[in-house]
Amino acid sequence: MDQWAGVVLAAGEGKRMNSRVSKVLHQVCGKELVRYPVELLRELGVQQVVVVVSPSNAAGVQALFGDTVEYVTQEEALGTGDALNRAKHLLDGQFPHLLVMGSDAPLVRLHSVKPLMESHLDSSNDMTFLTAHAATAQDLGRVVRDPEGRVTSIVEAAESRDDSGEPAEINVGVYCFSTKWLWENIGGVGPGSPGGDQERYITALAAIGAGADARIETGATADPDDLQGVNNRLQLSQVEEVQRRRIREHWMLAGVTMPDPASVYIDADVKIGQDTVILPNTMILGRSEIGEDCQIGPSSIIRDSKIGNHCRATASMLEEAVMEDSVDIGPFSHLRPGAYLESGVHIGNFVEVKESRFAAGAVMGHFGYVGDASIGAQANLGAGMVTCNYDGRDKHRTNIGAGAFIGCDTMLVAPVTVGAEATTGAGAVVTKDVPPGRLAVGVPAKITDRRTKTN
Ligand code: UD1
Ligand code: CA
Repeated sequence: MDQWAGVVLAAGEGKRMNSRVSKVLHQVCGKELVRYPVELLRELGVQQVVVVVSPSNAAGVQALFGDTVEYVTQEEALGTGDALNRAKHLLDGQFPHLLVMGSDAPLVRLHSVKPLMESHLDSSNDMTFLTAHAATAQDLGRVVRDPEGRVTSIVEAAESRDDSGEPAEINVGVYCFSTKWLWENIGGVGPGSPGGDQERYITALAAIGAGADARIETGATADPDDLQGVNNRLQLSQVEEVQRRRIREHWMLAGVTMPDPASVYIDADVKIGQDTVILPNTMILGRSEIGEDCQIGPSSIIRDSKIGNHCRATASMLEEAVMEDSVDIGPFSHLRPGAYLESGVHIGNFVEVKESRFAAGAVMGHFGYVGDASIGAQANLGAGMVTCNYDGRDKHRTNIGAGAFIGCDTMLVAPVTVGAEATTGAGAVVTKDVPPGRLAVGVPAKITDRRTKTN
């Protein structure tokens, strides 16, 4: 792919979204629309990628890609042809071929685009674009051919007064150009159309080329679903539905079991290991990673979390949390950001953990709250234990040593440390540190002489 540069058009106004958020920053399966073409270009090995942004979405788009792509701003949304022309000064003469894509057709996949690029090169075309057959043209560009089957133009919905409602061959919005031919001809793309639109259409290049005997050919999409674009929120949901199904199919074929796939939501950036079972009503979101042989759900929500191998998360919620191997949680527990459970930890029901690390084998079987704490290996935290980590102004830390036994209903008033192998009695309110191996009982808790273990 050393012959190719890519341009992603992302400066449209997206008016039909009726949104304060730029269309290209809306998400499908947890991934911004504009990331789909940019990542596809990367997958295709395209070296130089230019993204055409608008003044209003430039910062948001740049936050996604940093300096991995180049940017050019289209000050005013004067059409796809104008947007492409903005990238000219960055692309003049460096690469002989250009791949151009919009940012609102996230269903277009590698196995549609790659053959298009190959046939563009094989036939030495000036322009090769992707088409698909649709039941009606709707708001899309319709391909018009002469009796010999040669492309003569692409007619935009805004230009054609008589949408017949008949099946049509549609322009998907993915174009290969000979760079030289493109820059020689883009100047001919004028504003205005029979529909009264003052935009410059990239699609006018088809008629310009056909009129000058340029080599223009098309390639068909591998899957008719690829065509679906996002112009409004209804289409956003329809595209999401297709994408969600594709993601599930991908993971099932890769070795993940889903007894009821329709009730499972998996975001685009998620990774799941072999022989993991995803039970009904489960959402795995953001950049979550799940290992092998796990059982997730039913009814779990996992967001931006990392789960090791052989874990179980039943009817629980994880947010920005980590579970190492062989950890189990739930039902009805909540790991909030910064929760880190080392291998073999057991969390039962109605437990909330925030910004805390449980060392290997620690156990908390029943309702309670652990925030801003560090829990030693094999510690046993009794039912109803609470870290009182907030004094109304500041957060404070709690440390519980390895092998400690925290009695039911213990309140640990932070900052406080309970030493290794120490014990607290049921209902203790611990306001002072408990030395290792000692017992603390009462309200406020007193340290007794009795050691919990002989040592
Ligand atoms: C476009 C095509 C149409 C095709 C359809 C496929 C044109 C004129 N028409 O129509 O033939 O069937 O896509 O989905 O191209 N953009 C800019 N600057 C602008 C205008 C648009 O960067 O001034 C970007 C948008 O952000 C978007 C892409 O270009 O990512 C397509 O623009 P959009 O207005 O959605 O084009 P369609 O009307 O859908
Ligand atoms: Ca569109």
